[in-house]
Amino acid sequence: MKIAVARETRQGESRVALVPELVGKLTAQGYTVAVQPEAGVNAQYADQDYLEAGAEVTEDAFDGADLVVSVNPLDSYQVRTLAPGTSVMSFLPTRQSLDLVADLRDAGVTSFAMELVPRISRAQSMDALSSQALVSGYRCAIVAAGMLRRFFPLNMTAAGTVPPAEVVVLGAGVAGLQAIATAKRLGAVVKAYDVRAAAAEEIRSVGAQAIELELETLEGSGGYAREMTEDRARRQMELLTPYIAAADALITTAAVPGRQAPLLVTAAMVEQMKPGSVVVDLAAESGGNVEGASPGEVVRIGHAQVWGGANVPSQLPQPASKLYAQNIVNLVTLMTRDGAFDPDFEDEIVIGSCVTRGGAILHEPTRETIEGPAPEPDPLAEPAASPVVEDPTQTSDRTGGSTRFEGDSQ
Ligand SMILES: NC(=O)c1ccc[n+]([C@@H]2O[C@H](COP(=O)([O-])OP(=O)(O)OC[C@H]3O[C@@H](n4cnc5c(N)ncnc54)[C@H](O)[C@@H]3O)[C@@H](O)[C@H]2O)c1
Repeated sequence: MKIAVARETRQGESRVALVPELVGKLTAQGYTVAVQPEAGVNAQYADQDYLEAGAEVTEDAFDGADLVVSVNPLDSYQVRTLAPGTSVMSFLPTRQSLDLVADLRDAGVTSFAMELVPRISRAQSMDALSSQALVSGYRCAIVAAGMLRRFFPLNMTAAGTVPPAEVVVLGAGVAGLQAIATAKRLGAVVKAYDVRAAAAEEIRSVGAQAIELELETLEGSGGYAREMTEDRARRQMELLTPYIAAADALITTAAVPGRQAPLLVTAAMVEQMKPGSVVVDLAAESGGNVEGASPGEVVRIGHAQVWGGANVPSQLPQPASKLYAQNIVNLVTLMTRDGAFDPDFEDEIVIGSCVTRGGAILHEPTRETIEGPAPEPDPLAEPAASPVVEDPTQTSDRTGGSTRFEGDSQ
């Protein structure tokens, strides 16, 4: 059985789906591993490192592969070269990739989307959304510290005392908590806000002050946040304004599954910030938490420099690749039986993450978008097995609805 590692084709992508130190985890299970030349070069892994780890390095890595792994989905032209029955495993944002999903279906390729791995305890080691959010959160805090023209920590010297910087973090999920912890370690005074009730305790547990607003909390299904009403959004902005005006650095990481990132901070709020202040918007690519933020750019609003995140995990490609590769290896291991890549489609992690298989789209929300509503069953017809499997445990990805967490009763 052969696993191929793709060289990423997305503009600006620096990560790689498998790092040399994990090649042995796959060869030990009986796989041969073939890597496209220079696949890891932007993450500081040379072809020689893969060769020494026991992989083959060849432009024709996909030929005869049973599974192709990548960070971003393959391009359609690559999918069309795959033999029917080949599997692919990568991030696959289904809503933004409808043509590609149709191509995967038509090519008879079995595709697994890392965003769709159910966020249950058993799948934590395969949760690439979390591993990449952790990298992003860290990077956001470092960017803020680097852009701010003052110390993060308190400094007491013979020449006098320099007070610490004040950092406000909005959104305290995986990325936000990591941003808080990193800013704290650098010595800043950190305050943070999140709409979920559970977040206040999590914020305090990483050493920050939880900003508590006189507003209802917004718990959605599966441990995620719900969307705000317009009225609540306006009220939240009013109540957060003084905290933002007092901050030296503002970091925003808020997201709501299936929606554009919520707008939390208007340009008028940023204009109230002090000269030299810094705003880091991790959500800039998905709509932006901060009005005026632009992905991949630094713009000036009032006195503040506003940094918009664009493919942020790729900015720390070595740790991001290492963590992602570990997620991939763990998922491949789950799908390996008797030394062969043989996913058990009765397993909720396998079926939950599968988008296409055997010429059909198994991810029901995507199938319905591409193919339309399933035909009404003919009441007179004999019951027959449906080619489309509806996943009972998880119905969508972050861009397509809710993902269930263990313990979610809905
Ligand atoms: N296996 C598991 O059980 C598992 C895995 C990963 C994450 N989680 C938990 O799920 C939760 C969310 O995870 P995520 O980081 O992927 O979420 P996410 O990326 O969807 O959202 C980031 C954060 O933004 C917050 N947010 C949304 N709207 C907001 C608003 N208007 N104002 C302020 N904040 C707002 C959300 O509450 C969330 O904490 C966290 O509690 C996390 O610990 C559980």
